[in-house]
Amino acid sequence: MNILLFGKTGQVGWELQRALAPLGNVIALDLHSKDYCGDFSQPEGVAETVRKIKPDVIVNAAAHTAVDKAESERGLAELLNATSVEAIAKEAAAINAWLVHYSTDYVFPGDGEQPWLESDATSPLNVYGETKLAGEAAIQKYCSNHLIFRTSWVYAGKGNNFAKTMLRLAKERKELAVINDQFGAPTGAELLADCTAHAIRTALVKPEVTGLYHLVASGTTTWYDYAALVFAEARTAGIELAIEKLNPVPTSAYPTPARRPHNSRLNTQSFQETFELVLPDWQLGVKRMLAEIFSVTPIV
Ligand SMILES: NC(=O)c1ccc[n+]([C@@H]2O[C@H](COP(=O)([O-])OP(=O)(O)OC[C@H]3O[C@@H](n4cnc5c(N)ncnc54)[C@H](OP(=O)(O)O)[C@@H]3O)[C@@H](O)[C@H]2O)c1
Repeated sequence: MNILLFGKTGQVGWELQRALAPLGNVIALDLHSKDYCGDFSQPEGVAETVRKIKPDVIVNAAAHTAVDKAESERGLAELLNATSVEAIAKEAAAINAWLVHYSTDYVFPGDGEQPWLESDATSPLNVYGETKLAGEAAIQKYCSNHLIFRTSWVYAGKGNNFAKTMLRLAKERKELAVINDQFGAPTGAELLADCTAHAIRTALVKPEVTGLYHLVASGTTTWYDYAALVFAEARTAGIELAIEKLNPVPTSAYPTPARRPHNSRLNTQSFQETFELVLPDWQLGVKRMLAEIFSVTPIV
């Protein structure tokens, strides 16, 4: 089986390179790939890549993910998150390939307290959410064999992440303010990649599972409680922190170009039942990532 992976160097793309490897021959591309075009600013280029490789499965982890920047570069965000996705969806349909894609809770308005269902009405608050929603719609319209996973608050051990930033600040400062009125589930790129691999195996034998699913770790937290957990784990691991006071603040204390939803909770019942998988609590993945950080790299 040939699997074409776009966005191989992103948080999720990196983990997908590992998780997809046992499924078959993975052709992994990014923006700078030379042999085939993996640049989503060139819809015709990525379409041609699909035509040339003729994969059985396409997994797209490439996206314009800079939520604030997207407000001032709508054209580029549309190109990456919608136009190129549509081009790939059409080519995938033409060769009867599966298309696996990631979307976001930012398609929702973020009000209320209930975890969003796949069937709930969408109404994005920002350009990123609008363009991701357009990408979903294009796949649903043009490619019948698809898996779209809406996720949230993605982190990975590789590169920067919220926990590493908090640890760095907690070593420098005595007091920190962190938002406590946005609710969601930090979801590891590892978990997303592993679930994707399992779901692909199911889809290949049960094509009726085609569709859109919410996929996040279980449980709910706020950025404030997430930071508190990071500091507690650091202290348990014997790491010295300067921080004495962690202050909960509302989103309004940190104005950003893009509006962000308060309620990022996603209901994952459909994913868990359809694919017979269990989504672990968010703390499991975060504690694991922290243990790896503490054991390998000193935080500077
Ligand atoms: N991160 C989150 O919290 C989050 C939440 C909900 C949903 N998602 C979705 O999950 C998926 C994976 O996100 P992620 O967290 O892995 O994001 P990420 O780490 O930002 O990865 C996105 C990748 O796309 C690449 N990219 C940027 N411009 C490109 C272009 N013109 N052509 C091809 N690739 C390009 C980026 O490359 P560079 O790094 O070189 O720019 C990066 O490797 C995305 O669909 C995203 O919308 C993410």
